[in-house]
Formats: sequence, C-alpha cells, structure tokens
Amino acid sequence: MRFVMLLRPHANARYEEAVLPLAEKELLLTIGQIMPGSGDHTVRHIDIMGTRAIEFVLSEMPEALTKAISGHSALLLFCEYRDDGSLVPLAGPAVPELGDDLSAILKYKGKTNERFTRFLIHMALLSAHVHSPEGKRLVFADPMCGKGTAVFEAVNMGMDAYGADTDGKAVAEANAFYRKYLEYHRIKHANKEMSMTIPGGKSAPVRSVSASGKGEVRFAVCDAGDAAYVFGKGRVHIMAADLPYGVQHAPNERGHVTSMSAMLEKLMSGVYASLAVGGAAAFSFNVNTLPREKVASAAMHAGLRPASGPCYEGLEHWVEQAVRRDVCVAVKD
Ligand SMILES: C[S@@+](CC[C@H](N)C(=O)[O-])C[C@H]1O[C@@H](n2cnc3c(N)ncnc32)[C@H](O)[C@@H]1O
Repeated sequence: MRFVMLLRPHANARYEEAVLPLAEKELLLTIGQIMPGSGDHTVRHIDIMGTRAIEFVLSEMPEALTKAISGHSALLLFCEYRDDGSLVPLAGPAVPELGDDLSAILKYKGKTNERFTRFLIHMALLSAHVHSPEGKRLVFADPMCGKGTAVFEAVNMGMDAYGADTDGKAVAEANAFYRKYLEYHRIKHANKEMSMTIPGGKSAPVRSVSASGKGEVRFAVCDAGDAAYVFGKGRVHIMAADLPYGVQHAPNERGHVTSMSAMLEKLMSGVYASLAVGGAAAFSFNVNTLPREKVASAAMHAGLRPASGPCYEGLEHWVEQAVRRDVCVAVKD
C-alpha cells in the first residue's frame, strides 16, 4: 500500500527546506518504533499541488501507526495514495489538549519555534521506553524552558509539563501567560506558589498551575543542574531543551556567564537525575558554538546513552546566519 504524508508549510521557505530531512527522520522513527522489524523503508519527497509531501510504501497500516503519525510535528494530512491518484485521508494532526495557539501566541527574541519544539518532544517520546502509570499522565520537563514553548507543546500532547530556567523574568511571564490563557478559555484551575530546597542551602521559587482535567504545569527558577529537585528525582519521562546558542547566553545561577562545557556538564547531571529509567531527552544546540560530540559525550559522561542509528543522523540544519542547529537524543537505560 502506498501512503503519503502532506507537510504543513512553514512561513520561512528557506527554513522549511532546511527542516525537510527532519520530517523524514521523524516519520521513519515513528514507523520503526510502531512496526519494529518491518524492514528499511524508502521514502520519496514529492509535491502535490504545491504542497510538500513524503511518500512511502508499507504492507499494512495498523491503527497504532496512524495514531502515532498524527503526532508528527509537521503533519498536515496523512493519506492512503491510491493507484488512480486519489488520496484517502487517514489522519490529521492530533487534537491539541488546549489549543495550537497556546505555544504560538507569545512572540519574543530567542523563542524556539513551536514546530521544531514539537519535533524535539516527539523524537524523545519515540525514543523512550515508558508508559504512563495507570490513570496518570506522562511527565515532561524542559530544564531550559525560557518562556515555556516546550512546556506548552507538552501540555497540548496531554502530559504534565514542567519548566525551569535561570531567567526568573521569562519564567514568571510564562506562568502569568498560562494562567491568563486558562482564564480566557474559562478553564478552572488552582495555583500554588512554593519554594523548593536545592543544593547549596538555596531554594528555588516554583509556581504550579493545575487545570481541571488538564494536568499540572510547573515553572521554576533554577539552574538546569538543580532542576531534578523541582521536577522530582526519577519522575520525568520525557525531556527536551533548546540549549543557549552562544556563550553570552549561558548565565549560571548567579547570572554570571559560564563556559558551555560547564553548563553542559551541569545540565546533563540534572537531566540524568530527573529522568525515570526508560525516559529520554532531546537536545538542540548551535553547532557553531557547541559541537555535537561535546553534547553526546557530556550525555554519556552523565550516564545517558546517546540514541544512534540513521533516524538520529543528518539532523543538522540551517536556522539563521550564525546558527546551524543539530539534535541529540539521549536515553536513560
Ligand atoms: C534557546 S533559549 C530556550 C528558549 C525556549 N525554548 C523558549 O522557546 O522560550 C535557552 C534558555 O536557556 C536558559 N539558560 C541558560 N543557561 C541556563 C542554565 N544554566 N540553567 C537553566 N537555564 C539556562 C536561558 O535563560 C534561555 O532561556
């Protein structure tokens, strides 16, 4: 049977071109995880009436795979491609728990784009070996959350979602925005402000919002290395972080600039401590300031296993003049 996945266009054509290989790898990883042993799949990039698409052949299409493909970060429409040239729709993008605009409304310098953020989370999710405990949600965390793009994407994917960042202003803004969003949509919620003890005799301010039937969102101000103290040690199933793109954007907990290596080492120890066994984390970084090997070796040094194989290779892509971004996924076995 022939299938075709139509891709959602991106406003920036050059960026759209650059991330095409990512859409292909995400699709191949999805097929491989749901149908292990189904062999190597050849995909073909095609154009349908001006819409980019990926075509592939499979002997069957189990419901679990259709569902998993609906979580693809770039999906516009997934169809069976009949020999007579007709397209039979099988799935559209998964319905967001709250609304697609949740992660899109806030616009600011340094924001990680929503679709790429969804890609990171989905790659980690596909690489993890975790199940949500009976009646509970999976727990997601971004230890460098900025104003919460990944937290909001994870909420829309039905997870409890936590974020931490050293930038207290960004975190406060993300929390205030989330509360406003819930109020605007008349979703009942309970707010809590706490302070959690972190190493060095310090404490991290934590704001938690539990929305009726939608799980918990938690924002904390702390260094990524201490994030396990606010996320809960061994409690997080899925993590994603878009690392600072330049040395100048890597302040330590006192706001002083620190080296990328030191930041990376702390980050990975925090990720390892936060993740449950079987959990996975996806990191994106600017290869002009942070070579991939450095990220992978820091992950390994912390006890994580960098995921390997064709779906995790060739993910480097152009973002802007000074930024070439790559992705590394690591698993806690
Ligand atoms: C590329 S930005 C992430 C942006 C975020 N994904 C968003 O869309 O808002 C990197 C973030 O890492 C944060 N950061 C830098 N060093 C940190 C550290 N040691 N611990 C926690 N956060 C840190 C910065 O404050 C910044 O918000």
